[in-house]
Amino acid sequence: MKKLAVFGNPVKHSLSPTIHQMFAESCNEIISYEKIECSTDGFVNTLLDYFNDPDVIGCNITVPFKQDAFALLKTNCDDYANQAQAVNTVRKTDTLSGFNTDGIGLRNDLLAQVGSLLGCSILLIGAGGAARGVVQPLISAGISKLHITNRTHTKAISLVNQFNDDVLEAIAPEELGANHYDIIINCTSASLEGRVPDLGSIKFNECALAYDMVYGNQPTVFMHHAAHLGAKRCSDGLGMLVGQAAEAFYIWTGKRPETKDVQAALKNT
Ligand code: ATR
Repeated sequence: MKKLAVFGNPVKHSLSPTIHQMFAESCNEIISYEKIECSTDGFVNTLLDYFNDPDVIGCNITVPFKQDAFALLKTNCDDYANQAQAVNTVRKTDTLSGFNTDGIGLRNDLLAQVGSLLGCSILLIGAGGAARGVVQPLISAGISKLHITNRTHTKAISLVNQFNDDVLEAIAPEELGANHYDIIINCTSASLEGRVPDLGSIKFNECALAYDMVYGNQPTVFMHHAAHLGAKRCSDGLGMLVGQAAEAFYIWTGKRPETKDVQAALKNT
């Protein structure tokens, strides 16, 4: 049996085991997929121990260890992990390799929801690791504008400066009202605490989709606020979660699972 796991803290509520078991079933693979909760200073040793098992083919890494995993695997990472400076997927072959599939997961979910991203203008709210991880996959989808705004404006500027691309610009919160966006994405960690960033001047009534990277059983506070401010369509990040998992599954097995049915099944749980 091929062994997989997700490392994080907390991981109790992770949907990854359920998602990957569904993928495995649809792709005729037999896997085990466990949740491994680590202490902050125990992560690297626990991960390396885990890979000593010959049946282990890979793992996912979630909050707060994605940057630690990147630091460990830095010399053997794909472009997206290098750009994000974070690893969410590890594959074991002769060596351990690091990948970041979060941005592809988001891009594929946006494509499923709005059809095409060609020429789209997108606003990212937040300038932390979650935002950094999706910048390059969004740019490579052919968007025309990727603005980043953040409570701490200097962090938005420094994120933009890490990527040398004309579509990117840091926008101070007070300048947001002058801009039109097709898609507005909340990449802050505020939703996790049931809070929303200050959204006052953003023109939600002009956007086709307001998207929160966080997911839950209920619409998130960001989705409520965006709808109240005029957004016609709001989404949580369940599709991104399933999409990043599908890409990880492909990296491990070479098989591309269907995501639609899995997403629908999770919505009904
Ligand atoms: P992650 O890896 O999840 O992105 P992070 O690197 O700690 O986490 O970044 C969190 C992001 O959420 C930051 O952009 C942070 O804004 P600051 O840079 O100003 O701290 C943003 N954030 C968190 N709570 C917020 C809140 N209540 N309002 C606005 N932004 C918030």
